[in-house]
Amino acid sequence: MKKVIYVMGVSGCGKSTIGTLLAQDLGIPFFDGDDFHPESNITKMSSGQALNDDDRQGWLETLNDLAKKQLENNSCVIVCSALKQKYRDILSDTIEDDTEWVHLVGSFNQILERVNSRADHFMPSELLKSQFDTLENPECAIKIDISLSPQEIIKKIKQELMNTSEFGLFGLGVMGKSLCRNLANNGFKISMFNRHVDGVEEDVAINFKAQYPELSRAEAFDDISAFVNSLQQPRRIMLMVNAGKTIDYVIEDLLPHLSENDIIIDGGNSNYKKTKERYDYLKTKGIHFIGTGVSGGEEGALKGPSIMPSGDIDAYNKVAPFLETISAKDKNGLPCCTYVGPEGSGQFIKMVHNGVEYVEMQLLAEVSTILETLGQNPDEVSQTLQSWKDIADSYLLEITTAIFKKKEGDDWLVNKVLDKAGNKGTGNWTAISSAELGVPSTLIASALFSRYISFYKEERIQLNEKFQTKTTSELNITTNDVLEAYQFARIINHYQGFKLIAEASNKFEWDLNLSEIARIWTNGCIIRSTLMEELVEVFKHTTNILTNPKLIDLVNTYKPAAKKVVSQSILNDVATPALSEAIQFLNGITTAYASANVIQAQRDYFGAHTYLRLDDASGKSHHTDWN
Ligand code: 6PG
Repeated sequence: MKKVIYVMGVSGCGKSTIGTLLAQDLGIPFFDGDDFHPESNITKMSSGQALNDDDRQGWLETLNDLAKKQLENNSCVIVCSALKQKYRDILSDTIEDDTEWVHLVGSFNQILERVNSRADHFMPSELLKSQFDTLENPECAIKIDISLSPQEIIKKIKQELMNTSEFGLFGLGVMGKSLCRNLANNGFKISMFNRHVDGVEEDVAINFKAQYPELSRAEAFDDISAFVNSLQQPRRIMLMVNAGKTIDYVIEDLLPHLSENDIIIDGGNSNYKKTKERYDYLKTKGIHFIGTGVSGGEEGALKGPSIMPSGDIDAYNKVAPFLETISAKDKNGLPCCTYVGPEGSGQFIKMVHNGVEYVEMQLLAEVSTILETLGQNPDEVSQTLQSWKDIADSYLLEITTAIFKKKEGDDWLVNKVLDKAGNKGTGNWTAISSAELGVPSTLIASALFSRYISFYKEERIQLNEKFQTKTTSELNITTNDVLEAYQFARIINHYQGFKLIAEASNKFEWDLNLSEIARIWTNGCIIRSTLMEELVEVFKHTTNILTNPKLIDLVNTYKPAAKKVVSQSILNDVATPALSEAIQFLNGITTAYASANVIQAQRDYFGAHTYLRLDDASGKSHHTDWN
């Protein structure tokens, strides 16, 4: 990566000597800032007057232009005292990320003695004192002790320049490890950290580094301070630790070692409200916080996940080159990573992604049960699902096709898996958020509660004996009906998921771009599908997919089959909660005059909650003594 290396420090610290040697050693151009003063500054200085900030402004801008021009072709070394932060801001304007500061540090007496011992130099101590008074110590600089020999100094600067990592990964669980390998495979110099727990987690980072050749340049740590210090500033540290309280503990552990403007990225499935709290808290400490959804599981993280970052756009821009490079690419080659919006919006959409994922999984579970009820064995179910690829292709369809094929001995493995579905909480949050926002995500609730029902295994066995009367089922439907019912429910699922995002975007003023969200979900993530690809276009024109003519046609075409499949399933005691709910929801959302009039009358009856009347356009509330 090309860099401008500014060597800075008070007069007499040896900038020109060190700068020249460094440039020679690195084989890059050297520039002495003093050679770029305008005529007026030179005249002023020769008459013994000190330059003021106005005099310096144009000169610093010239050096900044020089740096930018050099960066087009090569790295370079520029020497300049750059004592104040505002001078350094001008020098690095728009090239902050490509700038390295080397600060030559010495004591007052050391420098005074050194200059005055030179035969042809004399510096009055007042002049040096004013330099020290003006100096604002830079935070993001490689600090070099000038008592070292020039050779040692050059060696140290080179070490610091080469050794600092561009990106830090904190937490080497399955996802953290895969992301490290992905970053390293993409040529990034990374530092990796995993905690040390006696007898449980020992030398995790070191052992991991030893396992993969692509990590040969990576630095491995189990000491937080060393890890943080190995990173270039502003530091970019991505946390891949368990969501929840652990994130707060890790933040507290990191904070004492961080500097202003460092960036923490939380890549876990964190609650979006917590992300906002952490963002606000870290802002008070001068640290940027980016909450990002990461989807794709272990393989996705390694080969290219879908990444959903949110927070401050400026902070995002500093991590974008890393996240966008390691992300999956869409069909046009664009990264499946985009700045989603402010606060915790990235983690909000990841949460909804998981809600949609729960439903897609539940629908596949239901349709495969129906196919089995139709008499298909797992191999045949797999073949049927495979044949749906042309019109219903998705990652989840693909993996379910593979799952039904997998044999262990003579039997299919899927038949040996205990029928209790686990969850890590994101589906739960999606249902809670829907309720809080007043959005009817009924399919997500249905898929979530189906997992909960599955957990009552013992009760299910007991009640099965008392209530399940049908021993053989005869479903009067075709596999094509099942496919159409499945596609029908998927459209409703995507309608509900994006509706939830659109409503949150309005409520929190996040200004989310639904088309972009659909786009970054077309690859890398668990819910990637051809339907998602279609939605990228659909959302360019509407925020409501049920207003799109093609989808309206599809829903109308598929609905009869969905009704048939669901009614046959009900008649035969086959549980199909998500498929059924898709029909119920569509019936509800397309009913012009709903039964809610009765609810309003009941509320007014027992609680005098009042009601509005269709025949009173004034909007006045009415109350009736219904007795
Ligand atoms: C993904 C997944 C991933 C994970 C979740 C869901 O997008 O890569 O959603 O985040 O699978 O942990 O898990 P549960 O089903 O356990 O809630």
